[in-house]
Amino acid sequence: MYSEKVMDHFQNPRNVGEIEDASGVGTVGNAKCGDIMRIYLDIDGDGIIRDCKFKTFGCGAAVATSSMATELVKGKSIEEAMKVTNKAVMEALDGLPPVKVHCSLLAEEAIHAALWDYAEKHGIKIEGLKEPKADIHEGEGQEEY
Ligand code: FES
Repeated sequence: MYSEKVMDHFQNPRNVGEIEDASGVGTVGNAKCGDIMRIYLDIDGDGIIRDCKFKTFGCGAAVATSSMATELVKGKSIEEAMKVTNKAVMEALDGLPPVKVHCSLLAEEAIHAALWDYAEKHGIKIEGLKEPKADIHEGEGQEEY
């Protein structure tokens, strides 16, 4: 059901932990399953993401996608990090089962929330970045998924 890469990142997640005095921190939840993800970014004066760590209280797919997402944004510029969508994370993991696609949204939203926090602290605007939601289902109806 899961690709080897998903299993690998679930069993040996990269970049678990927190960054003290992080440049930006973002937390996003999924009220439907109760999972929570927090991403920490360390961004230098040139706007390069020097380090990225995460803490995920969630399912295996959420752990694997956060692990891969942190690997993908590390060493990148803010503009490049903006391109790390949930689709990009899933591709890097060789896919996720359809019922687990929503889990990868947490990773994308948590990165955006951390970038938003960074932008707010530095009084800058990041092209294409929208104010983050506290929950990925915020603003949606009650439909099943
Ligand atoms: Fe909640 Fe995967 S089931 S994030």
